[in-house]
Amino acid sequence: MRQNIVAGNWKMNLTLQDGLALVSEITNMVADEATGSSVQVVICPPFPFLYSVGKQLPQGSNFHLGAQNCSDKESGAYTGEVSGKMLQSVGAEYVILGHSERRQYFREDDFLLSQKLKAALAAGLKPIFCIGESLETREAEETFDFISKQLKDGLFHLSNEEFAQVVIAYEPIWAIGTGKTATSAQAQEVHAFIREQVARAYDAEAADNTTILYGGSANAQNARELFSQPDVDGGLIGGASLKSRDFTEIIKSF
Ligand code: G3H
Repeated sequence: MRQNIVAGNWKMNLTLQDGLALVSEITNMVADEATGSSVQVVICPPFPFLYSVGKQLPQGSNFHLGAQNCSDKESGAYTGEVSGKMLQSVGAEYVILGHSERRQYFREDDFLLSQKLKAALAAGLKPIFCIGESLETREAEETFDFISKQLKDGLFHLSNEEFAQVVIAYEPIWAIGTGKTATSAQAQEVHAFIREQVARAYDAEAADNTTILYGGSANAQNARELFSQPDVDGGLIGGASLKSRDFTEIIKSF
């Protein structure tokens, strides 16, 4: 079901105490300033904070808990890994997979990601699957081929039922943490292309139901313009999710 979602990816930042203070500020501000919209908010803290942050989110509200990664394995002797079932057991509903930082620094490729997707779905989690091109790819005018391949290799192996659980996040690598946001027209162009690819791989209804988020230097100033695009259903926010006022403004941007 297509939804408006603002997800905050804290990445490897904050302490538990900072994180709890941040969540309490955000939930208070959102409650005080009633967003009046049906936007769903997903908070994605580091693994060790998940349980406590989840407990602090208002239950039965539009706030949800998400993890930043999960193992492709179900359980067993995999030191340091965290399974989908473990995440689900501490209250996570979502999991970010395929983030460009994991692809780049931890060598996660499309095959591994396809396994992680299966594992996350089997554990009942909703994956937020990230795709996006580098600056070189964009300058070589190969963005659409690149995106199409990431979708085909990473995502389109899923069944219709599995795919229906997935949120897609378009994150151009050149815009992540750089302060260089894609223009709303650039974001819309790629989002529309992604939706078209989904329609081809599945069907028009699946495409219409798919939530596609934009990520990459989205902030309180540009969120409204980005979210006003017809195929932009919200954002995956990094830096600005660490500041309560900015993140609340982004939530209110619908
Ligand atoms: O997951 C979030 C994205 O990588 C965006 O990060 O908002 O700091 O550019 P950013």
